[in-house]
Amino acid sequence: MGRVRANVREAAIEELRAALNRQPPEIPCKYLYDDRGSWLFEQITTLPEYFPSRCERELLRTEAAPILDAAGGDVSEVVELGSGAAHKTAPLLHAILGSGHAPRYVAVDISEHALKRTRELLADEPGVAVTLVRGDYEHALALPARSDSGQRLVIFLGGTLGNMEDSEARALFLRVRAELVPGDALLVGANLPTDHPSLEAAYNDAAGVTAEFNKNALRNVNAVCGSRFDEDDFVHHAFWNAPRRRIEMWLRAQRAVEIPLGELGGTLRLGRGEGLRTEISRRFARAELESLLVESALVPTGWFTSEDSRFAIAVARVPEPSALQPSSVAPQ
Ligand code: SAH
Ligand code: AVI
Repeated sequence: MGRVRANVREAAIEELRAALNRQPPEIPCKYLYDDRGSWLFEQITTLPEYFPSRCERELLRTEAAPILDAAGGDVSEVVELGSGAAHKTAPLLHAILGSGHAPRYVAVDISEHALKRTRELLADEPGVAVTLVRGDYEHALALPARSDSGQRLVIFLGGTLGNMEDSEARALFLRVRAELVPGDALLVGANLPTDHPSLEAAYNDAAGVTAEFNKNALRNVNAVCGSRFDEDDFVHHAFWNAPRRRIEMWLRAQRAVEIPLGELGGTLRLGRGEGLRTEISRRFARAELESLLVESALVPTGWFTSEDSRFAIAVARVPEPSALQPSSVAPQ
């Protein structure tokens, strides 16, 4: 194993040890996405109950040109964080082609399977140069050097920001900000507050795909650290946490269990009904999302909502240094 892969593995072991030792224990949501998990997520996006992907796809299809205008109108490079199967990105790339640039598209994802799907889906896009970067954007971005001309636009779709706490979102935006220069832009897709029954249905689909996706995290953790979680000991539990305005996904033990944690050391003991949290999925008010952007020294320049007001796309730009100076000097 190369030194880099060994370091990645060590970081994963540390991260899992810390998360499983929390009270209550957690599995960070990135562990939902091994190859099988990425495949299952792609199935989720086609379920009748799971509306966010459809809302966002429609928004990108109908608003690609104004979105690019809000990003500054001269985008030549799109960097997508957590690209998944990149089902929704093509309209933006087409609009860039229409503006006269041959875009470069850089996909960053932790999942090999997701990157493979990204390549497959964008293979038929003439004039788009595709670069794939496998990596964990919570640790480093490791982007290739920017293209010489035009603006860079970083996109973070799917509502994946909602899978982060504020502190994690701020840290990510600062990491993104460090890869941008004045004039560049960030686009974020976010779920908006909506009615709870349809939300809970979206995370408890009748076909049980979300339950399978959730339980798959246990297989992935077993593969990473040699733990001995048994999926059959757990049930999928997803509910709306009203005070915190988020869906939470848990795996609840159906019986008292003792799980050997392999390389993490020790044993995880859970009583019947106790669980592990595997994901939060937040709904954002506009002001909440825009203040996260402003705190990262970005200036909101666009806000686009789906027809049913369940999903939004925010665009923000890195200001020119002159825009940060006081506009007038107070008279002495
Ligand atoms: N953007 C796509 C996929 C969303 S699913 C869409 O909107 O449909 C979230 C994606 O982010 C998955 O492909 C997952 O593998 C990736 N991901 C999750 N955590 C990550 C991390 N820390 N670093 C890099 N990619 C991550
Ligand atoms: C990727 N992310 C925004 C999805 C969400 O809705 O939070 C992941 C997901 N979890 C369950 N279903 C879909």
